[in-house]
Amino acid sequence: MKATDGDRMVLRENVFATRGALAGALAEKVAACLAEGLAARGEAVLAISGGSTPTLFFEALSHRAIDWKNVRVTLVDERLVPPSSERSNHGLALRHLLKDEAAAAAFVPLYNAAATPEAAADHAARSIDALPKPFDAVILGMGNDGHTASFFPGGTTLEEASSVDATASVMAIEAPGAGEPRLTLTMPLIAEARFLALHMEGAEKRDVLQKAVDGGIASGLPVARVFAARQKPVEFYWAA
Ligand code: 6PG
Repeated sequence: MKATDGDRMVLRENVFATRGALAGALAEKVAACLAEGLAARGEAVLAISGGSTPTLFFEALSHRAIDWKNVRVTLVDERLVPPSSERSNHGLALRHLLKDEAAAAAFVPLYNAAATPEAAADHAARSIDALPKPFDAVILGMGNDGHTASFFPGGTTLEEASSVDATASVMAIEAPGAGEPRLTLTMPLIAEARFLALHMEGAEKRDVLQKAVDGGIASGLPVARVFAARQKPVEFYWAA
């Protein structure tokens, strides 16, 4: 995969023979990043994406023995559904990550039952604003439409939420391909992460990603906005 936009390297590739090998390697790397933060600052923050891809990675990370009681885990984005919903990233994290060794971590959810998506974003932002920054590790996924976080093509707040100048840490966004209204971390928190990984699987997504690398923001694939905002390569974790 060509990982450069012009002469700038936007991706550092980590390719694995199996999805299980990827999950183990990414879990090891994220645990090391968190342990580094814990050693240096006595605390660490991890932001994870939801969807179907990260389950194996979450399961592997849940068994890593680090000082989880001083780690806070939050979400890169969330569907505005209760944790009991099968669509909930909060529920996904509880089922697959926040158990075993990782059960000791503090979870900082985005979902709340405010009256409107905008009010829910303001409420979630208060929790996110209280976290130490930059985050130690942020793990992104990508949809086949090139969305990452909840930066969806055609999203109501895509321009502001994906701007490096975004002032709010969390914004509400709605888009044709998003299903429910969403809450998303905005670009500064993502682009400034000490470790930023993009985790995806399958050839179709790899081909979409190549278009984003080749075409940049003009590709219309929002993941390209992360490459433009990040001042160093994004760690790309991929298996067929
Ligand atoms: C979400 C995720 C989103 C995800 C992509 C890929 O809430 O949907 O946070 O950004 O990473 O949609 O999802 P899959 O892993 O299901 O393909």
